[in-house]
Amino acid sequence: MSNNPHSCEERDRRVLELHDQLVEIEQRLIPTGLHVFGRVSDNERLADTLRMIASFDRKEAGARALPDLVAEGLGINSGEPFDEELRTKRDRVDQIVSHSIDLALLESSDAAAQYLTREANVERQESLPMFSLLAQVREQLRTNTESESLLRALRGEYIEAGPGADIVQNPSILPTGRNTHAINPYLVPSVVAFARAESVTKSLLDRYLSEHGRYPYAMALVLWGLDNIKTQGEGVAQALWLLGVRPVRDSLNRATEVEPIPLDQLGRPRIDVVMTVSGIFRDLFSPTVQLLDKAVRLVAQLDESAQANYVRRHVLNQIDSEKCDFDDAATRVFSNAPGNYGTNVNFMVMDSQWECDETLGDLFVNRKCFAYGRDSKGASIDGREARAAMDQALGRVEATYQNIDTFEIGITDVDHYFEYLGGISKAVEKRAKARPSIYLSDTLSRDARVRSLEETVRLETRAKTLNPKWFEGMLQHGFRGVAEIENHVSNTFGWSATADAVDDWIYTDVAETFLLDEQMMERFQALNPHSAHALVGRLLEAHGRGYWDADESLLNKLRDISGQLEDRMEGVV
Ligand code: BEZ
Ligand code: MG
Repeated sequence: MSNNPHSCEERDRRVLELHDQLVEIEQRLIPTGLHVFGRVSDNERLADTLRMIASFDRKEAGARALPDLVAEGLGINSGEPFDEELRTKRDRVDQIVSHSIDLALLESSDAAAQYLTREANVERQESLPMFSLLAQVREQLRTNTESESLLRALRGEYIEAGPGADIVQNPSILPTGRNTHAINPYLVPSVVAFARAESVTKSLLDRYLSEHGRYPYAMALVLWGLDNIKTQGEGVAQALWLLGVRPVRDSLNRATEVEPIPLDQLGRPRIDVVMTVSGIFRDLFSPTVQLLDKAVRLVAQLDESAQANYVRRHVLNQIDSEKCDFDDAATRVFSNAPGNYGTNVNFMVMDSQWECDETLGDLFVNRKCFAYGRDSKGASIDGREARAAMDQALGRVEATYQNIDTFEIGITDVDHYFEYLGGISKAVEKRAKARPSIYLSDTLSRDARVRSLEETVRLETRAKTLNPKWFEGMLQHGFRGVAEIENHVSNTFGWSATADAVDDWIYTDVAETFLLDEQMMERFQALNPHSAHALVGRLLEAHGRGYWDADESLLNKLRDISGQLEDRMEGVV
């Protein structure tokens, strides 16, 4: 009966599902406004940042996550069935945590700790380490020496070094305005990154399994340099988990080898993985590139069945059918030619210069079809053109994937996500003759989540582009703010072009929110008619290319607005 759309159970299920989605959007941490060089955050933004920091255990500070402490104090058991009552309790936990952070900001750590004792039976000494850490972060965020450091750097003076990372992942990046350093690639993946990657990889494969009834035979992964710096190699670790290997450290504690995780421990087949790494990753993580290549070759040579080891299955099949050698069949790590960066897919999309969507995938392969690693004799193949090997490897891919590890930059903030993940998905679509399932995980919240690309586009649109808190924050920056909104819509359009992953309602709501709303249109015209004009043009292009099934009357209004903006700009010039 529960599938009967009129039954009470079904109604309750749908209401709870909707509640879940609303909470997900509500809780998503978004940057409100741009960072202004040299300027400190205001109190409201500070509270948001501190809440996010407090939601993770901070072992380095001996501090436990405040939501866990409060939930335990209130006797909420994480094993309880997830029903409405538990939701109400969780909402209460969030309220208490938020209020305690406000108290810590406005009064003192002591006042906040006492409040938690009163409201949630949390012992003072349990919560104080977190409040001390938050007080330290607050002080560091209230001082900003970026301009002073820049002037000192220009005078050739010494600038203190500091790690580069995401503030939530690693608050020790503060104070800003230091000389950012990256990472020792031999430490990648770190022990923590490898441990964290296990559950994300499991969620990813479980998701595919639940949608397709079996594991994917092959996946394509995008690996970036900055992300792997920030997480000390979470993306790298996910690739290793998919292959079913673990890093082995040498006597200097360098991760230079891998060993297979026995199949009975792994509990699933080894997945074939095609890795496209950015030019930055290739340059910064040379030993890691070698480690990944070594991992594929090791797995391909394990004495295991084709049902349990998809790398071996594909390599042996290719050797047999193509009469090629092992090295050609086992090439899985690709990047740009030496000295070359990026895919150019973003530029082609932004300039609207393609006829057929397939071109975008071909452009990706043109740029990325260079192999990295070592052949069976140990000789370097770094930067060798390997177009046929890449075509073959992508032709087997059933799912594409990228890990997101920061709340600051999401898939519609910059054009790089669609150039990479969108570009490779388009390339797979032609070579495998089927659109792959496209996934992203976000490891920026406590419980890493795997989402389809379509779900992620919806979430980003609701949490950012169409969220008044986000766009009003942007509009405070005047000219630049309108440009940012237009950028977001163009980046969203990039997901239509490369992956057909944008719902019609998204374009419709963008048109209604920014262009058909008279007051908003006036603000746009006054602040930045050029970006407003680009925005209308992008929406009309989305319709023209078949990505947006729009009402003819709405399109006519947009055409009128476009004409008005052109007149106005001519008047301005
Ligand atoms: C990287 O960190 O590898 C990267 C950064 C921006 C765009 C593409 C890649
Ligand atoms: Mg559509």
